[in-house]
Parts: sequence; C-alpha cells; structure tokens
Amino acid sequence: MDVAVKESRDPDKVVGLFEQHKDSPFTYLTNIPLVKMLSQLESFKIFVAEVDGETVGCIHSLSYIYDCGYVGGLLVHKDFRRKGIGSRLLDAALNSLNTRYVYLFVEEKNTAAVRLVEKTGFKRIYKGRRYIVSTQLDEASGALRITNDVDWASLKESIGFKERNGAVNLGYYPVKMREKAFEDLRASNRIIRCGSVIAIIENSYGLTIGDHLYAFNDHIVRSLRCVDTSRRIVEVNPFYTKPRLSDLINMVNYLVSLGEVHVKTYDGDPVASRLPLTGRIGALTMEYEKQGFNMF
Ligand SMILES: CC(C)(COP(=O)(O)OP(=O)(O)OC[C@H]1O[C@@H](n2cnc3c(N)ncnc32)[C@H](O)[C@@H]1OP(=O)(O)O)[C@@H](O)C(=O)NCCC(=O)NCCS
Repeated sequence: MDVAVKESRDPDKVVGLFEQHKDSPFTYLTNIPLVKMLSQLESFKIFVAEVDGETVGCIHSLSYIYDCGYVGGLLVHKDFRRKGIGSRLLDAALNSLNTRYVYLFVEEKNTAAVRLVEKTGFKRIYKGRRYIVSTQLDEASGALRITNDVDWASLKESIGFKERNGAVNLGYYPVKMREKAFEDLRASNRIIRCGSVIAIIENSYGLTIGDHLYAFNDHIVRSLRCVDTSRRIVEVNPFYTKPRLSDLINMVNYLVSLGEVHVKTYDGDPVASRLPLTGRIGALTMEYEKQGFNMF
C-alpha cells in the first residue's frame, strides 16, 4: 500500500474525512470550521495522507508567537489505523514548524493518541482547567491594589510556574514563557500583580466555532477576516508568590469590569481550585522540544 503524506491547501479534504468519522470517538467536528477559519493565516498548514488519491489522514500546524508552534486536527481513517500513518502525519507537521517548542492538546483518556504523541517525543505538561467569571465574586478581604511591579525572577519562582513547566496559554495556544517573552509582555502591560498573585493577561475575543467557544487573542484575530469581535474576554494565567485566595478574588473582580474573565490554569492549582466556581477540566497540554534547535 502506497501512502503519500503531503501538504494540501484544500480544507475540503479535511472536512470530508471528519464527516466520515462524525460518530467515532475523538473526532472533533469543531475542527471543520476551525480549519476553514485558520486557513486564512499564512503560517497555517494542512497535511494529508493519501492512498490512491483518497484522503485517509490529516493534521494541521500553525507557527505561533514566541518561538512556539502548535499541531492539531490529527485524524486517520479507521480502516487505515496502526499502519504508521498518524506518526508520519505528526512528523510532517513537526517538520513544517521552525519553532523550538511545539504544543498539542489531547484528552487523557485517548490512550491511542497519547501513546502516539509520547512515542514521537511529546511530554505531558499539565491538564488544563478553566474558570469562567462573568460577574463579581463575593468581596474578598484586604486592600485591592493592581500594580505592574513584577520581575522575571518572581514569576519564575511563583507557584504554578514549575507546575506548568513554564507553558502558559496566550489565547487558545500555549507558549513557553521565557525571559524575552516576559519582557515583551511586560512592556505591553500584560503582566500585572494583585498582592501575591501575578497574572499574564490577554485581551482576547470569544469566537464560537461549531458548538465550542474559543478565545483567540489579538495576534490571531487581527489576521482573520469577517469574525465577530463583540465578545471581549480577559484571559488570565495566574501564578502565586503565596497561596492567598483573597488576592485572586480581588484581581478577578477588578478584571471582570473589563470583560468576561477566563482564569486559565492547571488541574491541581491550589488557589484557583478554592474559587467559588466550578472549573472546566480540559485536555492535556503536551510539549515537544526540538533538540539542537539553535545549533545551526
Ligand atoms: C490516534 C490516531 C491518529 C493514531 O493514528 P495511527 O495511524 O493508527 O497511528 P500509528 O499507526 O502511527 O501509531 C503509532 C503508535 O501509536 C500508538 N497507538 C496508535 N493507536 C493505538 C491504539 N489503538 N492503541 C494503543 N496504542 C496505539 C502505538 O504505540 C503505535 O505504534 P505501534 O503500532 O508500533 O504499536 C488514530 O487512532 C485516530 O485517528 N484516532 C481518532 C482521532 C484522534 O484521536 N486524534 C488525535 C487527537 S489529539
């Protein structure tokens, strides 16, 4: 059997494959409108596997900010699984990215996919958890003071930084927070403090794609045509110099006056888990680091 893995500019090949598997587990139909929308971006690439001209597999990749890439939408036709096609597609997507770090999301219970990506060299970072806040939370005690006196060392030493291996979500996509990115974000007022809480914040937009709400930040949204930007979201990646809940509540109450707040953290966050809210558990964030990336 000859399998050709190649880049494609045709989102309809992906659409057809997803539709054929719409009743199979781990087929995320939301990939259909997502791929159509992201095809507008210059650094977005689709790869397909073909047998006799028929599409039997697909994946996509996107080069993102701060030397990070993203891969998603991996699907192999159910009659063609366990033949190495998924691995070849993942390799093609990885090779298309000229970034040191590459991220993907996978459900923990999707053992086939978790094994495949771990075999390729991805490492588990954290399981995402998100708290959505649309109105003020009960008053917290203590004075509210929002400042921007945060340095790189205090962020790196905070609770939540090591636990997430320094990977945070800016918009939908994870990035590796390193000093250069930190200084850049600080210069654009996206690093704030409220007492013991340090937060990386993003001014994002909630875009409903399929039946799923995605939050994309300016970096993505400004490159997209015809999207509805009426739903403003403030995304917050929190870190703690001390595990003090009242400071997180105060920060969220301040930010919620600017828009709906999405606290994006990890399963096991000792502070956000005490918010008077139900958190939505998310997928595993997996990280791949290209070896010797800066050597040439
Ligand atoms: C996950 C998926 C893409 C794997 O594609 P594939 O072409 O079968 O994968 P490969 O043949 O390259 O498998 C590579 C390795 O992954 C692991 N693997 C793949 N399928 C597996 C399964 N069903 N059970 C256990 N391990 C599995 C194995 O380690 C395998 O190596 P091996 O065959 O030498 O043991 C495919 O099952 C699929 O499309 N699933 C539904 C969609 C999905 O889950 N996408 C991923 C979303 S993150």
